[in-house]
Amino acid sequence: MTKEPNGSLAGHGGDGAAAKRDVPSDPFRVAVFASGSGSNFQAIVDRVKAGELDVKLELLVCDRPGARVIERATAAGVDTYVFRPKDYPDRESYEREIAAELNRRNVDLVVLAGFMRLLTPVLVDAFAGRMINIHPALLPSFKGARGIADALAYGVKVTGVTVHYVTLDMDAGPIIAQEAVPVLEGDTEDSLAERIHAAEHRLLPQVIGWIKDGRVKIEGNRTRIERAED
Ligand code: GRF
Repeated sequence: MTKEPNGSLAGHGGDGAAAKRDVPSDPFRVAVFASGSGSNFQAIVDRVKAGELDVKLELLVCDRPGARVIERATAAGVDTYVFRPKDYPDRESYEREIAAELNRRNVDLVVLAGFMRLLTPVLVDAFAGRMINIHPALLPSFKGARGIADALAYGVKVTGVTVHYVTLDMDAGPIIAQEAVPVLEGDTEDSLAERIHAAEHRLLPQVIGWIKDGRVKIEGNRTRIERAED
C-alpha cells in the first residue's frame, strides 16, 4: 500500500497479497478484534441476527483467553481465533499468523472493537482501507485507552464516539462517522460510559453496513459517505 506523508490512506487496499478485491465477496465477511467484554461485538451479532446488517461474522480475534467476548462469539456460533501475545517473540509474529488466517477466510473488513493492542504494519498495511476502529471520544480529542475518563476529567460538555479507518498513527486515521454524547451534571465514568456505549452500539453496525454497501469513499484524510441507492 502507499501511504501519504500525513499518514492518511491512499485509496483502498494495497499491492500485497491482501490487497482489496475489486468485487467484495458475497457474503461480505467481517472479522472483529476484541479483548474484553465485547458489547460492540454483541451489537453487531444482534443486527446480523435481526436481518438489519447483511454481513457474515467470519471470525472473532481475541488476545485474552477468558475474555467475555469469547463466550459471546461461541453463543453466536462465530469462529474464534484466541492467542496469547506472550507466546510469541514479537508482535509481528502473531500478526503474520492472524493475517494469514484472515486471508484464508477472504475477510473483507476488520473491525477493531475494544482491541487493546497496537498493531504493526504487518496487519495495518495488509488491511489498509479495510480496517476500522471504534473510539469512545470525539477524535482527535482524547486519544488512547482512557477516552471516557479523560473527557470527564477535562470537563468537556460534549464528548462522543468516533469510527475511523486504522493507520499506523494511533486513533488518527480518516474519520468515517461520529456521534456526540452530552456530558451531564453529576456524570460518573460509569454513567457516561453507559451512554457512550449505547451510541457505539448504534454507530458501529451502521458504518459496517455503509462500507459493505460501498458507500464510504476515502479521499486523502477525509471520507465521503455516498447516498444510499434507492
Ligand atoms: C469501547 O468503548 C470501544 O470504543 C473501545 O473499547 C470499548 C470496548 O467495549 N475501543 P466492548 O468490549 O465492546 O464492550
